[in-house]
Amino acid sequence: MKIGIIGAGNIGATLARKLAAQGHEIKIANSKGPETLADLARNVGASAVSKEEAVADVEVVILSVPFGSHSDLATVFQNVQEDVIVVDTSNYYPFRDGAIPEVDAGKPESVWVSEQIKRPIVKAWNAVLAATLSERGQQPTDKGRIAIPVAGDDPKSKLVVMKLVEETGFDPVDSGELGSSWRQQSGTPAYCTELTAEELKAALEAADRSRAASVRDTLIKQFMEAGATISHDDMVARNRAATA
Ligand SMILES: NC(=O)c1ccc[n+]([C@@H]2O[C@H](COP(=O)([O-])OP(=O)(O)OC[C@H]3O[C@@H](n4cnc5c(N)ncnc54)[C@H](OP(=O)(O)O)[C@@H]3O)[C@@H](O)[C@H]2O)c1
Repeated sequence: MKIGIIGAGNIGATLARKLAAQGHEIKIANSKGPETLADLARNVGASAVSKEEAVADVEVVILSVPFGSHSDLATVFQNVQEDVIVVDTSNYYPFRDGAIPEVDAGKPESVWVSEQIKRPIVKAWNAVLAATLSERGQQPTDKGRIAIPVAGDDPKSKLVVMKLVEETGFDPVDSGELGSSWRQQSGTPAYCTELTAEELKAALEAADRSRAASVRDTLIKQFMEAGATISHDDMVARNRAATA
């Protein structure tokens, strides 16, 4: 497929590398401009482009930018064809992104993103640590393969994104409509806990909306304080313990 990725950081660059390795034609953009991305693009097998080029002549656009940056992208989508599927990988951390009252009041994060860019959204790859995405993908037949939730309102678009999730090395799990996607936000049992598909379905069901934001804020504070001393496995263990 022809895929444009906006955001070339931990998640965007990893998705570019993995999807290019599967034979997809990948364009990648950041905020600073394609001239700052030439080496990265070459290394991952993608083309460095502007944001406008990333959304032109593609079938799928993946947004992998800080949560608050989506407001800057509205104009980029103005002339994008309606059948282009837009995927959102983002998570909201008020300490980093600035407080957004509607989201603090309970609007699901990807519903807010969808409103910013005025496009339907499929939410995927948000509930996986960058290190998990990069290092822990497995073959479909491998035991204990980690699963990733995929939410969205259009079944056809969701199926396309689920196939891409599969190609990045993870079991895709249909997590329902975008309005239910709070179940895979930070602070829930589905979020960055490295579960199998069956475990993930149970975790999505068990999500407690009333606790999620405070769990999110407690955990991120702990992770920031621990800095580089906290291991990948410890982060997963703490996520599991705090949301159990
Ligand atoms: N890191 C994780 O473990 C993880 C896991 C799952 C989901 N996520 C979510 O995925 C998203 C990306 O995370 P990340 O860790 O990959 O972030 P990151 O490493 O900080 O990279 C962010 C990228 O977004 C670009 N960007 C920022 N504002 C932009 C704008 N207005 N237009 C175009 N590009 C813009 C940046 O470009 P410049 O450098 O040129 O500014 C950079 O390439 C976030 O919403 C995050 O919450 C992260």
